[in-house]
Amino acid sequence: MRKGLLSLLLLLVSLLGSLALEDLERKAFVFPVASNTAHVVLKAKIQHPLTSVTLCLRLYTDLTREHSLFSYASKRHSNELLLVAQKPNQYKFHLGSEELIFKVPETLSTNHFGKHVCVSWESSTGLVELWVNGQPLVRKSLAKGHSIQPEASIVLGQDQDNFGGGFDINQSFMGEISDVYMWDRVLDPDEVVLAWYDQALPDYLINWRLLNYTIKGYAVVKPALLSVHTAG
Ligand SMILES: *[C@@H]1O[C@H](CO)[C@@H](O)[C@H](O)[C@H]1NC(C)=O
Ligand SMILES: *[C@@H]1O[C@H](CO)[C@@H](O)[C@H](O)[C@H]1NC(C)=O
Repeated sequence: MRKGLLSLLLLLVSLLGSLALEDLERKAFVFPVASNTAHVVLKAKIQHPLTSVTLCLRLYTDLTREHSLFSYASKRHSNELLLVAQKPNQYKFHLGSEELIFKVPETLSTNHFGKHVCVSWESSTGLVELWVNGQPLVRKSLAKGHSIQPEASIVLGQDQDNFGGGFDINQSFMGEISDVYMWDRVLDPDEVVLAWYDQALPDYLINWRLLNYTIKGYAVVKPALLSVHTAG
């Protein structure tokens, strides 16, 4: 009887814990092994189709193969919004069936294993910006006039080949990811630099300091090894 009550209490505590939004400042999700299971699901309150967006995150990895950084699938398209590192200094940004490749000059990535990456897109002009360690690459164009579906399955650590699943170990992330933020607007250049320093900026869709997330499989929350003080 007592034991039953205790487990009920524990269940309630863990339910409450899992419902709370968490401040992950100075922490990171660690993915210690390659797998086709370990991932983190992020919940964002996206009420309407997105016609502009900025995504920023910090990563620390020694992978040289392709690895997924941020996978936002919709029922319409598994690559509704996807950021992949094809190799250490080459990123691929997908919006639905369209994609763009950015090759980062070696001079922009002074910290070999750790990087802060931001990508932004605006439907009205189709312009895409990719920033590495607070520095911009040359702007490109993708999916002008398009909009991003709001009903999303957002995953860190794996690339979704269908809504919420279809993971491939050869595209999995290994290492740590932190400071994940998403906004429903294009950040100004000054703001991207602030994001690099992990300063608060308004209009979040995903906020690392108030994160709604669920860990699935072998991923761990730990103090970040790579922080704003050591990155880049
Ligand atoms: C987290 O996301 C889930 C699913 O969207 C939602 O039901 C829940 O209310 C959110 N939690 C908080 C504290 O906002
Ligand atoms: C992953 O890559 C290895 C080595 O290239 C290959 O042998 C294996 O079949 C791949 N696995 C999947 C699931 O694609």
